[in-house]
Amino acid sequence: MTRYRRYEGKAVAVTGAAAGIGLGIAARFAGEGADVLLLDRSASVEEAAAKIAAETSTGTFGMRADVTSPEDVTRAFDLAERTWGRLDVLVNNAGVITISRLEDLTLDDWQRVLAVNTTGTFLCAQAAAAIMRRHGGGGRILNAASGQARQGFVFTPHYAASKFGVVGLTQSLAKELAKDGITVNAYCPGIVGSDMWDYNDREWGRLLGDYGPGELMAEWVAAIPLGRAGTSDDVANLLLFLASDDAAYITGQAINIDGGMFMS
Ligand SMILES: NC(=O)c1ccc[n+]([C@@H]2O[C@H](COP(=O)([O-])OP(=O)(O)OC[C@H]3O[C@@H](n4cnc5c(N)ncnc54)[C@H](O)[C@@H]3O)[C@@H](O)[C@H]2O)c1
Repeated sequence: MTRYRRYEGKAVAVTGAAAGIGLGIAARFAGEGADVLLLDRSASVEEAAAKIAAETSTGTFGMRADVTSPEDVTRAFDLAERTWGRLDVLVNNAGVITISRLEDLTLDDWQRVLAVNTTGTFLCAQAAAAIMRRHGGGGRILNAASGQARQGFVFTPHYAASKFGVVGLTQSLAKELAKDGITVNAYCPGIVGSDMWDYNDREWGRLLGDYGPGELMAEWVAAIPLGRAGTSDDVANLLLFLASDDAAYITGQAINIDGGMFMS
């Protein structure tokens, strides 16, 4: 018997989808029948997408694109529109972090983190909203924020600024796009195992004290009320809900998905 797949016939774009949480999100939407365009600055995105397409029998494909490049973003969303004639969901997942003391934080790092996390989210949302409006069927824009959109952490002022920025962008676009039936929400993961967390564990561990590999993450995870780190599936479960008709009355929200790490 064929399983009912609730995103059959839907077109979804996920940025930063070659690895980590984005890859997991893309796989889950495709697993529910969606045609997914995986975008990433890494060339490995094409192979990752081809694997998902084969496993899910969907029109999923990958394309190398840097979300900070207006040309790349235009090319990617033009291709999505030419391929499917529509776009139902955009997941603005691409994000980067660097960790350093204030005196060592370079302007380059500050600008790069803001460019990917905040400006990239704006550029992709702008391109996706234009397609959603032309198609006229509404849509869903889901933006990766962070626990650091709730509270800044030490040694990451640029990352915190970028993610607080994502929440402001989310609220503003939610108000502007509501009349088009497009909802815009942000999601705030806490600690999810990924390349990003390998880096966090190493660099925060180095600056905060004498932590061995994995020790800082283990200490922080131990303080999570639900007692474990998150997974890309935890995040995808929230996004599959927010992208669904059941979430039609939710917009402009930033929702924590962090095992209780933050409660406001
Ligand atoms: N891992 C966590 O604990 C955690 C917590 C809170 C928020 N987040 C957010 O979740 C998102 C995904 O995080 P992750 O842990 O999977 O990170 P990751 O570093 O494992 O993966 C990020 C992906 O984004 C891609 N990417 C980076 N810059 C890009 C650009 N300019 N254009 C296109 N693609 C680009 C990378 O190539 C990579 O494939 C990010 O926005 C991150 O800030 C993660």
